[in-house]
Amino acid sequence: MNQPRRVFVTGATGTIGRATVRALVQRGHAVTCFVRPQAGVRGTLGREASTQLLAGAQVRFGDVRDAGSLARDGIRGERFDALVSCLASRTGAPRDAWAIEHRAQLNAIEAARAAGATQAVLLSAICVQKPLLAFQHAKLAAERALVESGLAWSIVRPTAFFKSLSGQVERVRRGKPFLVFGDGRLTACKPISDRDLADYLADCLDNDERRNRILPIGGPGEAITPRQQGERLFELLGRAPRFREVSPRLLDGIISVLSALGRVVPTLADKAELARIGRYYATESMLVLDPHTGRYDAAGTPSTGSDTLFDYYARLVSGEESAERGDHAVF
Ligand SMILES: NC(=O)c1ccc[n+]([C@@H]2O[C@H](COP(=O)([O-])OP(=O)(O)OC[C@H]3O[C@@H](n4cnc5c(N)ncnc54)[C@H](OP(=O)(O)O)[C@@H]3O)[C@@H](O)[C@H]2O)c1
Repeated sequence: MNQPRRVFVTGATGTIGRATVRALVQRGHAVTCFVRPQAGVRGTLGREASTQLLAGAQVRFGDVRDAGSLARDGIRGERFDALVSCLASRTGAPRDAWAIEHRAQLNAIEAARAAGATQAVLLSAICVQKPLLAFQHAKLAAERALVESGLAWSIVRPTAFFKSLSGQVERVRRGKPFLVFGDGRLTACKPISDRDLADYLADCLDNDERRNRILPIGGPGEAITPRQQGERLFELLGRAPRFREVSPRLLDGIISVLSALGRVVPTLADKAELARIGRYYATESMLVLDPHTGRYDAAGTPSTGSDTLFDYYARLVSGEESAERGDHAVF
């Protein structure tokens, strides 16, 4: 049994945050979550719903963007041993990304440090190794701030989540083709389940080998391309595979138009960034990038856990489970 700690959690109502709170509670830690009063996708979780969702943890409400609220409503003058942050911008729009992925992360790190914490676990993303998007630069700035904070740190950079690879299950079930960029083999990833990632994050608190390290991490098994995802989906549905191939250049056109219009209409600038995010994932693999060759390296991408994307697809197809979608979905 690992040593129980007092753990302060931010981003607890997100996909990985919820699973991580469960993993921390299971390990016997005393968990305090700091969440906003209207949380969840499109703010659908009120205080009571968040408290139920995060059963076993103490739930406190306030504004993580405000250092005063963090101290007053979150920390409340108590001592904590560690911070676990699963905070992330829900929109990916540049202003929100910098406000949450950077500024709010820094607030949380500082509040935890002032409360006596000696350790922090930060959920980041593998894509920051090739930063082209606003949210990736914001994440990297937060990573740097944590490294310089004086706390012992673990920066976890996972590959793709199941929810991000399940957006087409419904449309394919309804008889539509599976959309792929190029021939569907431009990219690959090693999908990781919420539970496996949560276990990995929670175990960072007690695993010395994960201390003061940047930790890229994927799920079990071989890397999978979008084409393989589609093929398995059709197999599970007992249908012949049907793909629609889309050129990533289509997104270039959309990005140019939205960027130009975005100079006049700010909401369209945010949509342009969303299209840039879509283009990034259409063309970049979620695997470790070899700095010497500039190529993605499936074998060099560490694995953890036992849940597979294809078992998850089987549960979605049988109706045993339903997919959680984010505020924005590419398909
Ligand atoms: N999707 C993927 O495949 C993938 C792959 C690798 C890494 N990642 C990274 O993993 C991280 C977590 O992903 P996720 O899917 O768990 O994220 P998520 O479900 O969108 O959760 C985001 C969390 O941050 C909180 N948050 C956002 N804006 C906030 C605000 N203004 N004030 C207070 N809290 C705020 C949310 O709270 P509310 O509930 O109140 O909104 C929620 O708890 C992200 O950094 C993402 O980049 C994702």
